[in-house]
Amino acid sequence: MEWLHRNSRRHRPPIPHVSRDIPLVVADVRAEADDVVSLRLVAPDGAPLPAWHPGAHLDVLLPSGRLRQYSLCGDPGDHRSYRIAVRRIADGGGGSREIHDEIRTGGRITARGPRNAFPFVTAPRYLFVAGGIGITPILPMARLAAARGADWRLVHTGRTPESLPFSDELRALDPDRVWIRPDTEYGIPTSGADLLEQAPEDAVVYCCGPIPMITAVRLALPGARASALHWERFSAPPVVDGRPFTVELARTGRVLRVPADRSALEVIADQVPGTAYSCRQGFCGTCRVRVLSGQVDHRDRVLTDAERGEHMTICVSRASGHLVVDL
Ligand code: FES
Repeated sequence: MEWLHRNSRRHRPPIPHVSRDIPLVVADVRAEADDVVSLRLVAPDGAPLPAWHPGAHLDVLLPSGRLRQYSLCGDPGDHRSYRIAVRRIADGGGGSREIHDEIRTGGRITARGPRNAFPFVTAPRYLFVAGGIGITPILPMARLAAARGADWRLVHTGRTPESLPFSDELRALDPDRVWIRPDTEYGIPTSGADLLEQAPEDAVVYCCGPIPMITAVRLALPGARASALHWERFSAPPVVDGRPFTVELARTGRVLRVPADRSALEVIADQVPGTAYSCRQGFCGTCRVRVLSGQVDHRDRVLTDAERGEHMTICVSRASGHLVVDL
């Protein structure tokens, strides 16, 4: 996930790290759409859970040890349960398959957070644009916008009606403000201009979904009547301004070449199965490694200056020349 204001790419705020572990019990598993389930999570003793705001996510530690981020998509006013939703990614890193195939009602997981990398600002007008499972952070935002009496519109795109979760909940907010847009009915792909066409004058746009959709919206923004764009993606960002470098894995002496358009994490994970990662966007810290020598170009949002003296996140940070890491 990544949050950006369109004017602030180089000045992103650091995301406060919330490292408390919260043991949770799966109170309910529900099929929400094709290949999408939601989990309702509660404290084992039913105690109140830490508060959250729309846009927040949980770091979920799965029984296998995998750590994954999932946006909270329930009601922030419900202090006794969290809801997350997960699309099964057949060829992903295994986290979604584990949830779909192995997590059942009564199962236990550990969560950290909630943390908010996609904060929801107060505004009089909004356009919400979601692609597929990208509806998860957007749903609580739309609910809050509706509760506050804001002027808002929402577009939810996806392959088929059956692939789109929470359509009934969205329509229940206000069917006149919600456009459920499956490709099977409207054709593919919709353009960024078409999506932004839905925006009320001077609206703040919140966009979450696949990279092509976000890119289309970003490119169309200058000609639109929207005033600002906040967006979040659920995959690794493309490398920007990358230069090739080499990384040496000190424990084996293996030297790997990281090309300009790939991350060190991708290259290392190809060679070292089980390399730890989670967000792949520089905000969770899971991929952090100790740097033994080399000049690091830090691009994360999680390490403090002091931590950067010895560590780097290999999912986004890069290096010039030769780097030696404790792997
Ligand atoms: S995987 Fe999250 S910071 Fe690298």
